[in-house]
Amino acid sequence: MCRRHDLDASGSTINQGREVLPDNVKPTNYALELEPDLEKFTFEGTVAIALDVVKDSTTVAVNDVDIEIQSAKLEYNGQEYTPVNVEHTDDIQTTTWTFKDVIPAGTTATLTIKYTGILNNNMAGFYRSSYKDQDGSTKYMATTQMEPTDARRALPCFDQPDLKATWEVTLVADEKLTCLSNMDVKDTKSLGNGKKSVSFNKSPKMSTYLLAFIVGDFKYVENNDFRVPIRVYATPGNEHQGQFSADLAAKTLKFYEETFGSEYPLPKMDMVAIPDFSAGAMENWGLVTYRVVDLLYDEKTASLDRKQRIAEVVQHELAHQWFGNLVTMDFWEGLWLNEGFATWMSWYSSNVFYPQWKVWESYVTDSYAGALSLDGLRSSHPIEVPVKKVSEINQIFDSISYLKGSSILRMISVYLGEDVFLEGIRRYLKKHAYGNTHTGDLWAALSDASGKDVEKDMATWTKKTGYPVITVKENGNELHLTQNRYLRTADVKPEEDETLWPIFIGLRTKDGVDSKLTFNTRETTIKVPDTDFFKLNADQTGVYRTLYSPERLATLGKESKLLTVQDRAGLLGDAGALATSGYQKTSGLLDLLAGFKDETEYIVWSEIAARIGNIKAAWLFEPKDQNEGLKNFQRDLFSPLAHKVGWEFKSTDDDILQQLKALAFSQAGYSGDEKVVAAAKEMFKKFVEGELDAINPNIRGPVYNIVLQYGENNGEKEWDQVFDAYKNGRTSDERNVALRCLGRSENPANIKKSLEIAINGEVKEQDIYQPIGGLRSHVAGTEALWEWTQQNWDLLVKKLPPGLSMLGSIVVTCTGGFTSDKAIEDINEFFKNKSLTGFDMSLAQSLDGIRAKASWVKRDAEDVKAWLKKNKYYSAEKL
Ligand code: BES
Ligand code: ZN
Repeated sequence: MCRRHDLDASGSTINQGREVLPDNVKPTNYALELEPDLEKFTFEGTVAIALDVVKDSTTVAVNDVDIEIQSAKLEYNGQEYTPVNVEHTDDIQTTTWTFKDVIPAGTTATLTIKYTGILNNNMAGFYRSSYKDQDGSTKYMATTQMEPTDARRALPCFDQPDLKATWEVTLVADEKLTCLSNMDVKDTKSLGNGKKSVSFNKSPKMSTYLLAFIVGDFKYVENNDFRVPIRVYATPGNEHQGQFSADLAAKTLKFYEETFGSEYPLPKMDMVAIPDFSAGAMENWGLVTYRVVDLLYDEKTASLDRKQRIAEVVQHELAHQWFGNLVTMDFWEGLWLNEGFATWMSWYSSNVFYPQWKVWESYVTDSYAGALSLDGLRSSHPIEVPVKKVSEINQIFDSISYLKGSSILRMISVYLGEDVFLEGIRRYLKKHAYGNTHTGDLWAALSDASGKDVEKDMATWTKKTGYPVITVKENGNELHLTQNRYLRTADVKPEEDETLWPIFIGLRTKDGVDSKLTFNTRETTIKVPDTDFFKLNADQTGVYRTLYSPERLATLGKESKLLTVQDRAGLLGDAGALATSGYQKTSGLLDLLAGFKDETEYIVWSEIAARIGNIKAAWLFEPKDQNEGLKNFQRDLFSPLAHKVGWEFKSTDDDILQQLKALAFSQAGYSGDEKVVAAAKEMFKKFVEGELDAINPNIRGPVYNIVLQYGENNGEKEWDQVFDAYKNGRTSDERNVALRCLGRSENPANIKKSLEIAINGEVKEQDIYQPIGGLRSHVAGTEALWEWTQQNWDLLVKKLPPGLSMLGSIVVTCTGGFTSDKAIEDINEFFKNKSLTGFDMSLAQSLDGIRAKASWVKRDAEDVKAWLKKNKYYSAEKL
């Protein structure tokens, strides 16, 4: 492949349009010494970067942003050189030094830079995080978040994933504090002034975005079952909640070593709970950092959902220790290799460790559904998307990289067989250890292991946006299949419908599944042995929707015995998506849902709830009687279930039964089931009176939501009580659950309070989205949220700088609840003269989502009304 390297005026190169550093020198080792000041919130640093000079050079350029460089010198061949010119370019975040003499190719040189910086409070680079200590005083720690491009905020460096080097880190800090980095401690020296200098062993070759160091007051628990020690660190008093994760990490690392056929190369694994954290967790090699609630687990007070999330996050980050850390994408457009694989792997290993959770069943309603939802929008993007600027890189940590990425891996793993797939993964890791890869390298390894041309089948899936809907036309026992691009907005233009995807048909008949059938043409014809029963996309492992005739769909709805849980959930998911985009009538979807009354499986019920939730969200601004009608339907489905399974949680309940009880309780309660609402109020009353365990953790959120929704005067006083639960929760998780529910209250004064606490300093920046999220469950909240967004826009941008990926998700939360073309106009009007840097993709996706709802409601409002009337759910007739 021929690469273009044009030097632009500022000394950075444009390589395939990307902002990357010139390739005249390559870093091989960083010796970094840092001293953070936890009172002044500053740090002092010195870094000596060993360089291989690969071309005759007079300049050396590094990345840096928001740090102040005090001095720089270059040493080679026993001589010291100081630059004759230095130029910093803010826009592309580089500093370039020019030297008088040519540094000849082949030289090894050391670039030593002294600098100072601010321990910022933006959760990026080297930053400060605060917490209340056991004695109630506010304490600080210094910690890092480098991915994707914030290592340059902590030190001047060659901040690209392909420029791997070894690292020797030294931290200078108060003697009483804990110092951590990727590697184990080599040496600790007392400096005599109450301070110590802690140096860490040299790391293997790794990318800058994986570098980490932390200074703070920590306690830990450990697990020593694995070859190397595993510790979970937390602020004092919380460390005991780390045992579950420490134990799981030990099992997981052992399992991954075996599965990947590759030893975990570092001498330890530390996992740390950080009070201020923008993402959920970060896979820094040997020093994984987490949001508190995604690492610490308290069995007595936390829900099963929380345990599952923690298990997922831990297994995801540990998968990265190989996929990402040992073998790294060449540049950010390969991000999906990291995130898609770690996502797939966390499900794979959850399935091994927790078979009782049946995670591959929930995959369909969770990751797969999330992937197809975003990818059904025109404003989606290909899995391999060219990203050039920093502000673009942050935006692709999204459902496409994670969920579509893992969905196509699941698709190919089922097609090849899991064993063959994993053999390919082992070959890939072996071949590219400590190196960098492109997507084609993964396909090549899978081809190698399977003897199939995997690249031919998979390239379209990573290079093209979207996925198809397959229309099934029956002619006796022949099925005529046609593929076309699916768009949620139902307005595919011919030029958008040119891609022909390689389809893994996955035909299920009474004889079993034929997983070898494929086609990559516009149309094809296949035969089924008998027309009584067949379904495409067995277990919903193919990334496509299936459009059956209304008669076939109705028949399939009745075949629950022949369909797996995934099939049933998939059938509902497809029917929902096809109703949204006008391929089928919404009344057909409602008929299908109504037919599932006797369903027994949790996952299928959760998909039913999701489908009704979707219709309700689109119908939110429609007349009240229709919304009441939908609520009546929801109650008619979930009340009998809730009454049957009950809402008492017994120690003998298996995990799935607990989830089913919690789901039935919440759905029946939200739709106004009197018994459930009364039970929720009763539990809440006891809780408020001081019986802290009166509400089972599995339904704590639902109980708060129900009392906020149905309490007197729209939860007028319940808001304050739930707010107290947030203030006084025993764990971060308890506080979080309360915070997340507050928006549910429709009371105008409460809506105001939910909005206020989001930005008045009451909640941390990392949690802004929590108290406002629930507002989208009602019209008044949705409108107030958007008003508030406009009024506080500058403050929001300040709190969540566009360089973090959080602003985008806030924009989606604040705008995405609307359902009309008029709202699209208003939103566009507001953003017309604003910089969209860092969230232009999220905004476009949010608007597309509104557009899809608007055309859905326009198309099917009458259809839904007629269905509600016919089935006696129309409020006037059934209330
Ligand atoms: N590498 C990411 C963390 C990250 C996210 C860094 C966004 C920079 C920007 C990490 O591995 C991750 O994916 N974390 C997930 C958890 C996971 C279980 C999906 C997260 O943060 O939610
Ligand atoms: Zn990840």
